[in-house]
Amino acid sequence: MNPQDFFARAWAGYASITPDADRVHRLLEARGERVINDHVAFRTFNLPGITRLELGALFEPWGYRRADETLEFPEKKLLASYWLPPTPDLPKVFVSELVLEAVPPALATWIRNLTERACERGLSLESLLTPAWEAPSYEDYARFYSESEYAAWTAAFGLRVNHFTVFVNALKSFDSLGALNAFLVAERFTLNSAGGVIKGTPAEKLEQSSTVARKIPWTFRDAKTVEVPSCYYEFARRHPMKPSGELFQGFIPKSADKIFESTRN
Ligand code: NI
Repeated sequence: MNPQDFFARAWAGYASITPDADRVHRLLEARGERVINDHVAFRTFNLPGITRLELGALFEPWGYRRADETLEFPEKKLLASYWLPPTPDLPKVFVSELVLEAVPPALATWIRNLTERACERGLSLESLLTPAWEAPSYEDYARFYSESEYAAWTAAFGLRVNHFTVFVNALKSFDSLGALNAFLVAERFTLNSAGGVIKGTPAEKLEQSSTVARKIPWTFRDAKTVEVPSCYYEFARRHPMKPSGELFQGFIPKSADKIFESTRN
């Protein structure tokens, strides 16, 4: 598999459960835009076999290189790393993991049991495109959702892409993130307003916004189908650093912290 095929398949899976992303994509193309992905994001747990570092390492044979910094989200009990692509036409890969030692023991045990076989098997690119483990029961999902929306989402949806991100700088008909947001609102999309619609500032070198994940019917263990929040679509505008003038390629934990809430419903 080459990266283009991988991301095309990942997009197809993501778009199938994220109707908003597909619609935004088509609306932008109808304006003559060519959508470039800034980054794709994955969620996992800090369990050997499926850690964030193991997940991101799957991209290294393609020339992806892990950035030195580890991003910390103490409130959400998350750590994250990101990988820079070998060429600018490929997205950055952002991988976060829930630190199970930091969450209530019952929640950690639920996740350990659910992911046990996946951890034994280890990861492959294919495991990011197919269900990573058997679906949890809706009862457990609902019980643990209130403790960690992140854990519940990842338990239900597995290691598939959590979101794709439009690289706003590459859009020709929008000169700011605010202009794109106004277009999306006029098209009746709901944007995540936790911490303000635009997270980050030009001074921080990164501005981001996102849709709110919509509810879709999802099948849990015992074939029980319930409507739950799926994925959101994100928009990122990057600003040049001084003195190099190169666009900032990193992430701002304070902003990402609020973006994580886009799958809360
Ligand atoms: Ni993101």
